[in-house]
Amino acid sequence: MSDENLDNNILLLTDLADDMADSNGSVNKVDEAREAQVWSFQGVHGGAGVTSLVVQMAYDLSVGKGKKKEELPNVLLIDLDFERGNCSSYLDIPPSMKVEELNAAAGRMDEALAQTFIRKCGENLSIIASESELGGNDKVNPHALLALLDKISTAYDYILIDSPQMWRSWTQAVIGASDKFTLVLEPSVPALHRTKQLSNMIVSTMSLSTPPEILLNKFERRSLKHGVTLRDAAQVTERSDLLTVSYDEDVLRQSINSGQPVGYFKPESRYAKSIREITRNWRRDANDFVEQREERRRA
Ligand SMILES: Nc1ncnc2c1ncn2[C@@H]1O[C@H](COP(=O)(O)OP(=O)(O)O)[C@@H](O)[C@H]1O
Ligand SMILES: [Mg+2]
Repeated sequence: MSDENLDNNILLLTDLADDMADSNGSVNKVDEAREAQVWSFQGVHGGAGVTSLVVQMAYDLSVGKGKKKEELPNVLLIDLDFERGNCSSYLDIPPSMKVEELNAAAGRMDEALAQTFIRKCGENLSIIASESELGGNDKVNPHALLALLDKISTAYDYILIDSPQMWRSWTQAVIGASDKFTLVLEPSVPALHRTKQLSNMIVSTMSLSTPPEILLNKFERRSLKHGVTLRDAAQVTERSDLLTVSYDEDVLRQSINSGQPVGYFKPESRYAKSIREITRNWRRDANDFVEQREERRRA
């Protein structure tokens, strides 16, 4: 597919969101902001913890103590790894579609068809996740994928995207449609160097003035022998705004093996709390992200 077509598709997605927000200011419950927030995440290396993180963040956004369903945001979790996606298995539910079904919808995607690719997995939480397929990330038709994102983009308050680690023809379009794009890594020196490189390449390819967020997952606050401190990480990446999520092996193991987000059984664990803190800040600053998204759309 040509880049021009991909760009047009992003603009279409954007226009639709604008129209919807203009015509109905109460279209979503995002704090302050009028458009749905799209937050996407990509691992700098395998096993960085992206899937666990998006599953927990999506769950956390969709629930609230003592709140009624109508008062809570509608959240959609999208697993864009068509080869090794784990979102559905981390939630112990079947995938919601197959690559061939999605591809067959190219050129005729509408809201009703788009809905058939979505599975509800909580009161206010839904998921799009494909059955794994060898080479799935190359087989997926980018037009069909972007049309799907386009058709569902205004029906949710938050859309969280688990983006595969390897760059694909459609990765830039996904970043372009996101309010927040975050690179996730484990704190090691090689991963930090790679993150800096990746971040620079994304910034220059897309001519961005705001670089991707950088999130150090599995971060240990107490200093470990030969471990990476926040100061080291800031020095290597030349960034003072790094995000961290705590190392919390037991709750993560329990989560994966029970098919439940950490917040479901341990909402006060270090892991759930550190993700909640990031979410809270992002929700508060949601309006600023819209400006960043405008810039990405133009890239
Ligand atoms: N904060 C954390 N602390 C400890 N273990 C973690 C943490 N985040 C993820 N893990 C573990 O790391 C492994 C990879 O996580 P996963 O979410 O599948 O990563 P990815 O999607 O980036 O490949 C899993 O075994 C998971 O339980
Ligand atoms: Mg994953």
